[in-house]
Amino acid sequence: MEPSTPSPEKILQTGLAFWASKTLLSAVEMEIFTVLAKHPEDLHAISSRMGLHPRGARDFLDALVALGFLQRDEKGIYANTPDTEVFLDKRKPSYVGGILEMANSRLYPFWGALTTALRTGEQQNEAKAGEDMFAKLYADPAKLKEFLSAMSGVSRGANIAIGQKFLWSDYRSFVDAGTAQGDLAVQIALANPHLQGIGFDLPEVAPIFENYVVSNGVADRVSFVGGSFFENPLPKADVVLFGHILHDWNLEQKRHLLSMAYDALPEGGAVVVYDAIIDDNRSENAFGLLMSLNMLVETEGGFDYTGADCQGWMADAGFRDTRVEHLVGPDSMVIGIK
Ligand SMILES: C[S@@+](CC[C@H](N)C(=O)[O-])C[C@H]1O[C@@H](n2cnc3c(N)ncnc32)[C@H](O)[C@@H]1O
Repeated sequence: MEPSTPSPEKILQTGLAFWASKTLLSAVEMEIFTVLAKHPEDLHAISSRMGLHPRGARDFLDALVALGFLQRDEKGIYANTPDTEVFLDKRKPSYVGGILEMANSRLYPFWGALTTALRTGEQQNEAKAGEDMFAKLYADPAKLKEFLSAMSGVSRGANIAIGQKFLWSDYRSFVDAGTAQGDLAVQIALANPHLQGIGFDLPEVAPIFENYVVSNGVADRVSFVGGSFFENPLPKADVVLFGHILHDWNLEQKRHLLSMAYDALPEGGAVVVYDAIIDDNRSENAFGLLMSLNMLVETEGGFDYTGADCQGWMADAGFRDTRVEHLVGPDSMVIGIK
């Protein structure tokens, strides 16, 4: 293969990628896509509705056009693109903007301290070193709600894939440990009418979970159990799932969670762990590696891991027949059988 000519293009694009990122995040913050889903509007109408100063308004909207998030017709009317119409209109169940709202209000400022995190190994969010991020976050009801719905947005694609791809016909019940709003439990129940499920999470999560299962029409088969997976046993079920849970915790805690799953399962039961699993060579899944840096910024000891890492921890906990299966985008699941 010819050696490629060195180019600064990717360096500059990545170095300044936060311009595009923050432009999209501000548009989500101002709910531009939700407003334009109701009725497309011109520059003047959007500016007065959003309180935009004329100096930046036109560049802001046209930047969103150039980035592919808005379209503008010959009369100067701005409208959503097919993607933003489906995924960034807050009134649609397909809305994925929760994670972007949280990225805007929390992660964007916290990532400004990445260098400090890299030098100290300490988290850089609202929790001080040594404090549990969830306890801190959940003390503020608005942040609790924002965090839980952010999780549904970022996880829905993988949740739907798990509901469809896993061999659910072999099982009758499941517990989703660290369920948040309950989107994984909902998607599994919607795709598999024979299953009964439990969402397990800290007690503060109960009302938000219960609303969500009712609004998705599965409250007769999916219920909530409150508790801490560091203090209470997991409810017994045929399948235990951990969605974006293992990466929040240090190695000892990860091993503890897998042993809790083992105790909750019958012989032949399955544990399903999913995260942005890093490729075994740690050189391809950039999102998984960046997610691990996000865990550095956000948690006391959390980190993301490869499929081989997770299979090793599962084997140590007593699971057999472990395997890794790709879900969607950067996410894969690791399965182990008791
Ligand atoms: C990163 S979120 C993942 C949410 C969801 N499973 C998903 O994939 O979208 C972590 C979840 O773990 C829950 N959690 C944190 N500490 C917990 C504990 N000690 N016991 C049970 N759940 C806990 C949080 O409340 C939160 O819902």
